[in-house]
Amino acid sequence: MSDVVVAIEDLHVTFSTPRGEVRALRGVSLEVRAGRMVCLIGESGSGKSVTGRALMGLLPAHSARIGPGSMRLHQEELLGKSESAMRSIRGRRIAMIFQDPSRALNPTRRIGDQVGEAIKIHFPERRPSAVRSKVLEHLDSVKLPDAARVAKKYPHELSGGMRQRVAIAMALSAEPEVLVADEPTTALDVTTQVQILDLLRSLQRSRGMSVLLITHDMGVAAHYADDVAVMYAGRVVERAPAAELFADVEMPYTQALLESLPSARAGRGALQTIPGGPPDLALGISGCAFAPRCRFVTSQCKQQPATREVAGGHVFECWHPVGKESR
Ligand SMILES: Nc1ncnc2c1ncn2[C@@H]1O[C@H](COP(=O)(O)OP(=O)(O)OP(=O)(O)O)[C@@H](O)[C@H]1O
Ligand SMILES: [Mg+2]
Repeated sequence: MSDVVVAIEDLHVTFSTPRGEVRALRGVSLEVRAGRMVCLIGESGSGKSVTGRALMGLLPAHSARIGPGSMRLHQEELLGKSESAMRSIRGRRIAMIFQDPSRALNPTRRIGDQVGEAIKIHFPERRPSAVRSKVLEHLDSVKLPDAARVAKKYPHELSGGMRQRVAIAMALSAEPEVLVADEPTTALDVTTQVQILDLLRSLQRSRGMSVLLITHDMGVAAHYADDVAVMYAGRVVERAPAAELFADVEMPYTQALLESLPSARAGRGALQTIPGGPPDLALGISGCAFAPRCRFVTSQCKQQPATREVAGGHVFECWHPVGKESR
């Protein structure tokens, strides 16, 4: 498909740790299409952040081994690119925002100077007056009230939600094609979370940008995603356009995540949690990684299930699907 902006295929990432090799990504495949919001969802430790960082070329060089596999931006292979080549892509064509906006902000400099600096890095030819007006435009675009006043402030003078808006303004100042947002609202209160996610979606729509939104919250995915990719133990185990996925879940793990949603349990008593925990990625995993926790497990699950496609773009890997494919 020609509208695929980011294509990750069978990507492996291994960390060398004192405990031995941690196989964090064990063959991740994922697509981000033009102008779509893709939610990458899964429990803690499933490899969501490692996937986002791999794409940005931000994995620690001393301990991470990336590959085999492939990561393409349009037709361009990113895997194996030099750090200097990645520097021209990172921020400019693919930008990232993090859970903690303070990471993106320098505590000792005024907001306006920092946003201006970000603009100058990517557009060095812009004149100072043009940069100044762009700063205000960007602060305005993230719905900060009174951009001129905010520009004069230091990060500590802003609330967490306002700091995250500034971080988004900085990430978008280079007009990237792709934005990776790694749990951008987990540090914020619930009302602010909704405001920031609404803002991200409206910016994504108005700019025709592609967003990879990393979250562990199925409720967020259900509300905001155009496409959903579910990760488990270093693999994407099910992915589909959101409407298709919520109409027809195939993978028991996805079903279990949905059952743990507050709306799914309304009036049904206790929160349904998934028994057990994810496997230790430092140990070899063979077959389906979810098998030890799955209520449908059989001896077949000792073999890695093949990837199956149910409908356009709806793929999953499971021997015992629970949706249409089971009938
Ligand atoms: N720098 C590192 N060194 C060693 N292991 C790492 C490193 N970074 C991540 N890992 C391991 O890789 C696996 C995936 O981690 P990752 O941070 O991607 O999980 P996640 O899905 O983002 O979880 P969370 O929801 O908690 O943020 C985990 O087992 C983690 O311990
Ligand atoms: Mg993470």
